[in-house]
Amino acid sequence: MPEITRRQLLRSSATAAAGLAAVPLLASCGSPTASGPSKNLIGKPLLAVDEIPVGGGHILANDHVVVTQPTKGTFHVFSSTCTHQGCTVSQVQGGTIDCPCHGSKYSIINGAVKAGPAPRPLPEYKSQVKAGYVELT
Ligand code: FES
Repeated sequence: MPEITRRQLLRSSATAAAGLAAVPLLASCGSPTASGPSKNLIGKPLLAVDEIPVGGGHILANDHVVVTQPTKGTFHVFSSTCTHQGCTVSQVQGGTIDCPCHGSKYSIINGAVKAGPAPRPLPEYKSQVKAGYVELT
């Protein structure tokens, strides 16, 4: 059986530590957190459905979310914080949510990266339409 060297042991320990450090980040995906919208937003009307353009969306910068309506009657709520370096996205046009800082663009359908240096999609939050308004659930 081969012996493990001290260097190999240190390298594997560092890898394991890095993996553990990533766990809280992964666990926070998809739910409101300190880096996303306030938990106070859950159940609060964000926008009336008729305020959200079909094929577009609105950025609610103070609430740190973007509400989109890719097709009539289909709504999504994403984080408005760019996954590159944390700028707030600034516009929704042409089917993308755009970051002004380095040009990242995200799909209004699923938050996927369409262009730019962003390493990950925009996190999406669970939402529903209730009494004519989009709200987080
Ligand atoms: Fe958005 Fe760099 S912070 S592209």
